[in-house]
Amino acid sequence: MTAISKDAIAGRLSEVRERTLALVDPLDDDQLNRVHSPLLSPLAWDLGHIANFEELWLVQRIGGREPLRGDLGRLYDAIENPRTIRGELPILHGPELRAYLADVRRRTLEVLAEVDLSPEAEDPLLREAFVYEMLLAHELQHNETMLQLLMGLDGYQPTCVDPDPAPERDGSAEMVRIDAGEHRIGAAPLGFAYDNERERHRVELAAFDVDRLPVANRAFIDFMEETGAAPPMHWKPDGSGGWLDARMGRRARLDLDRPVAHVSWEEADAFALWAGKRLPSEFEWEAARPQLGGLGQVWEWTSSHFLPYPGFEAFPYPEYSEVFFGDGHRVLRGGSWATHPSVARPTFRNWDLPQRRQIFSGIRLAREA
Ligand SMILES: [Fe+2]
Repeated sequence: MTAISKDAIAGRLSEVRERTLALVDPLDDDQLNRVHSPLLSPLAWDLGHIANFEELWLVQRIGGREPLRGDLGRLYDAIENPRTIRGELPILHGPELRAYLADVRRRTLEVLAEVDLSPEAEDPLLREAFVYEMLLAHELQHNETMLQLLMGLDGYQPTCVDPDPAPERDGSAEMVRIDAGEHRIGAAPLGFAYDNERERHRVELAAFDVDRLPVANRAFIDFMEETGAAPPMHWKPDGSGGWLDARMGRRARLDLDRPVAHVSWEEADAFALWAGKRLPSEFEWEAARPQLGGLGQVWEWTSSHFLPYPGFEAFPYPEYSEVFFGDGHRVLRGGSWATHPSVARPTFRNWDLPQRRQIFSGIRLAREA
């Protein structure tokens, strides 16, 4: 790989870091350090974890260097420190945190100048710059979890993403027919993808119909009125029987055409039953994707449990995917307005517990053809 490609990697690392810092730029130290919810880390933990993950992989693992501070790895290990206890850890704050982010980045760029990123590189982490792509994706994914928390912060207004993308207003009732047949599911062998997206394999699907657009707020209100279901997270009554969008402390009129967001899998499944349809499986979702509209506004719950594909091998570490496999988590597909487009590839699999709704999660429905 040429020096120009290394420049491109350095450029992207710095672009993504600017995005991360822009997200927290309007916040003071108290807002960065505060525990807003037991489901979400204090933002200062996310920032330190982003830097520590970079140090671990790009400086220690790839560069063979000693850590800047040996005690930090333990504090920022996501598995060792569940979100409920992250607010109590002696993590970095203020100028010390900023200095750590910058010091790690300086060393990352020193190591980048030394490594062989050719397709023949001995270390599989370096082939096609896998480990750098992983780092970029990791930081961007943390940007999204940070935004989950920021939705509850009064007066916050993100500058690097638009929290109010215009919805498609036509064709909400249309369904698309997907014919029975064999579909190739998962990521191709070349190019960056997570271990859980591989191996690419063939799946036989019966014919099915799928909604062209995700379920809109309007339909969810009908469901609430008929069944007594709870409103999605971040909705507040407007005092006259309607609903307000109360994200970031706002009291904006709810756009009825916008895809419903912040609903749990349990709510999505109940909605599907009420509507006389069902959630698509993740394979159906991937097979139908080229024909779906409204993409990129909300994650879409599927009926699938988060399970390994045939031939799965954990790479480069089992704590990304493997430890979450089983019937505890449901898969979401697509991507929300808070997801960076480079993360939202067609084969990307997101997952969460069925009762969770802090995620930017919505609903798309399917039915047998
Ligand atoms: Fe992480």
